[in-house]
Amino acid sequence: MNKDVARILISEEEIRNKSKELGMLITEEYKDKKAPILVALLTGSVPFLAELIKHIDLDIEYEFMDVSSYEGTESTGDIKILKDLDRSIRNENVILVEDIIDTGRTLKTVTRLMWEKGASDVKIITLLDKPERRTVEIEADYIGFTIPNEFVIGFGLDFDQKYRNLPYIGVLKEECYK
Ligand code: IMP
Ligand code: MG
Repeated sequence: MNKDVARILISEEEIRNKSKELGMLITEEYKDKKAPILVALLTGSVPFLAELIKHIDLDIEYEFMDVSSYEGTESTGDIKILKDLDRSIRNENVILVEDIIDTGRTLKTVTRLMWEKGASDVKIITLLDKPERRTVEIEADYIGFTIPNEFVIGFGLDFDQKYRNLPYIGVLKEECYK
């Protein structure tokens, strides 16, 4: 185990099993609909996206978008688009793929953006959900794991851009950020 990890919250195997479950669920729910376009939010969602798509048996496409909060105006929920989509999503069924929903501001804004771009449907899938931290009203349609209010790293989640490569979700030792 990495020396900065206080404890493992979700193991590699649990993540793999849950991703399979969610992939099969999406396959079932979209089998008679237009295959969805997965829009993954960089950078944290990449490992989850890679695990999930193996288990979606549909003609899906995936795209990336990168957004960041405006410094100083975080409470407004405004975000800056660092990388926009490379294709139109007009009349498409979009599934937003996120690593974690914390305050909910990012997804609230990105969801609105997807509707503005003309998506016919917008759903959300997140590996982790921290409902205690929510400041805006937003709920995912597919949730991997609901977790307590602790700072987690691994499987795409970072602290200062590090630990994204850990194969599990762990709680970061307090001494690493205090
Ligand atoms: P929010 O829901 O707009 O507050 O932002 C969610 C984003 O905050 C995620 O995509 C992560 O990048 C980051 N984040 C929130 N909680 C954690 C955590 O516990 N560990 C690592 N990143 C986190
Ligand atoms: Mg993120």
